[in-house]
Amino acid sequence: MSEELSEPPSQPGRVPGWWRDAVIYQVYVRSFADSDGDGIGDLAGIRQRLPHLRELGVDAVWITPFYLSPMADGGYDVADYRDVDPMFGSLADVDALLADAHDLGLRVIVDIVPNHTSSAHPWFVSALADGPGSLARDRYLFRSGRGAAGELPPNDWQSVFGGSAWTRVAGPDGRPGEWHLHLFAPEQPDLNWTNQEVRDEFLDILKFWLDRGVDGFRVDVAHGMVKDPQFADTGRDPQSKLLGVEPLPYFDQDDVHEIYRDWRKVLDSYPGERIAVAEAWVPGPERLAAYVRPDELHQAFNFEYLKTDWDAASLREVIDGSLAATAAVEAPTTWVLSNHDVIRHVTRYGGGATGLRRARAALLLTLALPGSAYLYQGEELGLPEVADLPESVLQDPVWARSGHTERGRDGCRVPIPWSGPEPPYGFGPGGSWLPMPTSWRSLTVEAQRDDPDSMLSLYRAVLRARRAHDALGDGGMRWLPSPDDALVFAREPGFVCAVNLSGAPVDLPDYGDLLCASDPIWRDGGGNLPGGSVLPPDAAAWFAR
Ligand code: GLC
Repeated sequence: MSEELSEPPSQPGRVPGWWRDAVIYQVYVRSFADSDGDGIGDLAGIRQRLPHLRELGVDAVWITPFYLSPMADGGYDVADYRDVDPMFGSLADVDALLADAHDLGLRVIVDIVPNHTSSAHPWFVSALADGPGSLARDRYLFRSGRGAAGELPPNDWQSVFGGSAWTRVAGPDGRPGEWHLHLFAPEQPDLNWTNQEVRDEFLDILKFWLDRGVDGFRVDVAHGMVKDPQFADTGRDPQSKLLGVEPLPYFDQDDVHEIYRDWRKVLDSYPGERIAVAEAWVPGPERLAAYVRPDELHQAFNFEYLKTDWDAASLREVIDGSLAATAAVEAPTTWVLSNHDVIRHVTRYGGGATGLRRARAALLLTLALPGSAYLYQGEELGLPEVADLPESVLQDPVWARSGHTERGRDGCRVPIPWSGPEPPYGFGPGGSWLPMPTSWRSLTVEAQRDDPDSMLSLYRAVLRARRAHDALGDGGMRWLPSPDDALVFAREPGFVCAVNLSGAPVDLPDYGDLLCASDPIWRDGGGNLPGGSVLPPDAAAWFAR
């Protein structure tokens, strides 16, 4: 194995502000590694594959929900927040995973889903049984319908997955009754966060996992828990899509921040800097920065960066805007290019050889920027979106809720290819819950591990260089002069990152020794500037003096 393994593991809990520049790897549990042959990834599978993450050189891992769930939305519909779905393992598996990860110097962040429960959660079951006006119903958002017989939804709010955000339920007498709000699938009823019991329950759930030793939480739909109490129509159609950032009465309401002030007190009451990262799709970097004020959450995914095209001027604007907004609240910026909800960035950047080249360059850009970064499983292998999954295998609720017009997010959730010449490529001893392309034999970890030109080797080299250089991670940066379609910036001490986003080579002056490059670059007089180098199209390089 590699030299990195001989470095002493960093000690979880002992590095102040570890999260300000951590590189955190997202594991989508269903698709990472399957230990028992049912074709679905699980906790024991993650545990077996931890050495891959250690070799890669990340600081922490975020694991998507593994709680008891009917899986109406891949586990983001939680029926018991304190137990593990048997499909994924047991609480003992969580403990073992935490212990192994910590031994390897990896921190572990788990998902928390506070905006909604599963409709199979005992609270919702009681809410249906107890009927209108009951204490049980007050934990959710039940309303009477409009129309003479209450046959119309209470307002025009739409589900992020398509269709109305309201579903009518039968009363305890079996007749059509009230409607309940679900910003996502009907099987994901929204909780009422003005109910104190709901607030107390989640503080207790946080403590349950903190006591078990988790290092933090990724907060699902962190912008959604508080709704405008008027419940007024938006007057708009269509409204928000999953990745939308338009102002809406059910997202990004100011009072949501009170919740995070309470959560922060709990996190701070534990040793070792336990953190929380917000998944918040909000209008603009200033609104996002509010979630990472000093007494709220630690990080918030920078989705504007993720959504920006491969274009120098647009990226520069987003980088400047993000850094200014987070600096104003003294938080780091949290860069991200892919996750389990978006089209993989190799494909977003153009696919094929172009997409791969840009994704390689984007890695150098992202990991040179000040702050922390999240990687999504499989991006280190250069996996593309699988756009041609047969319709019969699609599982994302978006597919059904959109009336089969939107395929949804399964294309970025295809299991990870580990080894071997054919599907399921070492994913597990059985099959895989989504089919894996036959073209992925050259993308397995095994196929890439010893190839110095592979995406995996690039990720490992760049992460190693990032760890070794004092200028990287938290801190400042300043732009250097460059052609319009390049981005060049310096960080102190003595570091320069140059990215060419154009279709033509770019001449660079002498910035010092080459630390790493996304593609071979021409050095020493190859270009027109003395002692300089030439950056090919869609390539990036790091230099140091
Ligand atoms: C978040 C998750 C997404 C899920 C949704 C509803 O956006 O990332 O996968 O479908 O919340 O919980």
